[in-house]
Amino acid sequence: MGVAVLCGVFYAGVGRNSPKKRTTAEPVPRQSIPSHEEGVYNTVAMELRGAVVILFALFYSSSLSVVHTFQMKSIYCTISDSCDCDFKPDVRGLEWDLYRNLYGQHLAQEVVSEAVGDFIRKENPDRPLVLSFHGASGTGKTLVSSMVGRHLYGTAMSSPYVHQFIPTLHFPLSDQVQQYKMELRRWVEGNLTRCARSVFIFDEMEKMAPGVIDVLIPFLGPDYVLFQTNYRKAIYIFISTAGEEIINDLTLKTRLAGQEREDIRLQDLEASISQAVFNNRNSGFYQSQIIAEKLITFFVPFLPLNRHHVERCARRELCQRGECHRTDVVEAVGGAVNYTPQDGQHFSSTGCKSIPAKVNLFL
Ligand SMILES: Nc1ncnc2c1ncn2[C@@H]1O[C@H](COP(=O)(O)OP(=O)(O)OP(=O)(O)O)[C@@H](O)[C@H]1O
Ligand SMILES: [Mg+2]
Repeated sequence: MGVAVLCGVFYAGVGRNSPKKRTTAEPVPRQSIPSHEEGVYNTVAMELRGAVVILFALFYSSSLSVVHTFQMKSIYCTISDSCDCDFKPDVRGLEWDLYRNLYGQHLAQEVVSEAVGDFIRKENPDRPLVLSFHGASGTGKTLVSSMVGRHLYGTAMSSPYVHQFIPTLHFPLSDQVQQYKMELRRWVEGNLTRCARSVFIFDEMEKMAPGVIDVLIPFLGPDYVLFQTNYRKAIYIFISTAGEEIINDLTLKTRLAGQEREDIRLQDLEASISQAVFNNRNSGFYQSQIIAEKLITFFVPFLPLNRHHVERCARRELCQRGECHRTDVVEAVGGAVNYTPQDGQHFSSTGCKSIPAKVNLFL
């Protein structure tokens, strides 16, 4: 039993190609996509390395107890960059972070912590987790995607298994769409082969040319097969402002009806967000089969923030600077933000964006 586990751990880790560490800001690198020949050499090398490691494991296994197995894994992890070693999911930590540091977003708190928690607990999920975040600017979409990365991998957002794509950076030229599609597919496939638990974050989807994202369709469904990889363990997060009108309208109606924003349920928004992004040319999902085939696990709405939330953001910023007591600055920042709609001025037009700059102004 111990031998089997140890062999599994060693083979799974060492047998894979070692990924180069990349920062999220780098463009999709062509040289990282393995050619067919490289693939053959890599496979032979992988088998040889795997065999050596299995012999090594067998040699030592007779004297191994469970404790030794753990010790061996940690020794192995000091010399390996396998994603199994860096994968340290902390679902409680994620829940706590969402509860403490995300203001006014009860739907995102609930959906993200439950969806990610349930997904991580499954050893063999039957499909990948695909989340799509929607809402106005500055409401916390990118913040939450970073929280997910931070609580899944030991090295957080700098993990080589958490990949962030930004269309204006990675896919800037509109006449290169076919090239981008090819590269994106091979890039995702290459990363999934290296690490089944990869996290892919596609930010600012509204700036993505229509059609590009559909190359991911095979990876998002339950039927795709990749050699040596359970591609269904991956997490995809799409982020866009598309659908914000629908979310903002419902939040406003709820407020004007004298109800709490916490009364808004996911079911009240999911179908209309899905329809809105499908029909919106600037959503990245215009007439996308990803939507038509219902490959998004959850649409996650981010509600517009009101003055109370903006002031919480200002207070947090002040506390981080050791100036917690400056309630005058909190109030000044709350008063300096623009609120919409014109009639009623209920919601911050920029959410909590640029609050640090405003704090600087009044401190
Ligand atoms: N709901 C929130 N709770 C706490 N902080 C928030 C919230 N929303 C935004 N912030 C803060 O405001 C800043 C901007 O947030 P973020 O980048 O997540 O916005 P966004 O929704 O991704 O906006 P955009 O669509 O413009 O990219 C971050 O520093 C974040 O800490
Ligand atoms: Mg953002």
